[in-house]
Amino acid sequence: MANLKTLFEDNKKWADDIKSKDPNFFKNLSKQQAPEYLWIGCSDSRVPANQIINLAPGEVFVHRNIANVVVHTDLNCLSVIQFAVEVLKVKHIIVCGHYGCGGVQAALHNSEHGHKTREVCLIDNWLAHIEDVKRFHHEKFDGLNQEQQQRLLCELNVVEQVKNVCNTSIVNKAWNNGSKLSVHGWIYDISNGLLIDLKKNVSSNNDLLS
Ligand code: CO
Repeated sequence: MANLKTLFEDNKKWADDIKSKDPNFFKNLSKQQAPEYLWIGCSDSRVPANQIINLAPGEVFVHRNIANVVVHTDLNCLSVIQFAVEVLKVKHIIVCGHYGCGGVQAALHNSEHGHKTREVCLIDNWLAHIEDVKRFHHEKFDGLNQEQQQRLLCELNVVEQVKNVCNTSIVNKAWNNGSKLSVHGWIYDISNGLLIDLKKNVSSNNDLLS
């Protein structure tokens, strides 16, 4: 348990440090949260939402799963989106993928070799959603090397998940009711710590059709 003890010690230092700058920080935050952003990102430990966009506790609502996938029937993700949009009234939903995503690499491997090259596991069912993305855009992969294919699938996966967010009944309803809500597709480069805007910004049902 020795290494876990240091986590508690570091937590105390972190809380003390924040309180030394703003004695009422946690007291005020405990009364309410009013984040403007919902972040949907990968579970990868190298892609921590708050740190990447330098936001303090209370400023970003977060959902993370393997390879930042938004599945139409995923009650976990849908519940997060519903709470963020209808209760917290976030202004922006950011789907953020990242280059070097292990989930995307595994999906690419599956799509090239089928599942027979290794023992099939539970996660293959999840990764099948990313294999679908490759199938939708298979012609774009012709002539690319492995590295280029991985980067392209990371980007296309973000774009696809932006569409999936926009097509949820929750976001549709918000736009039909006149809510100011935008959905964005970004990608994070783990090799330099920088975000790239994929310029897939959707602010209405009309944007989606165009
Ligand atoms: Co990842």
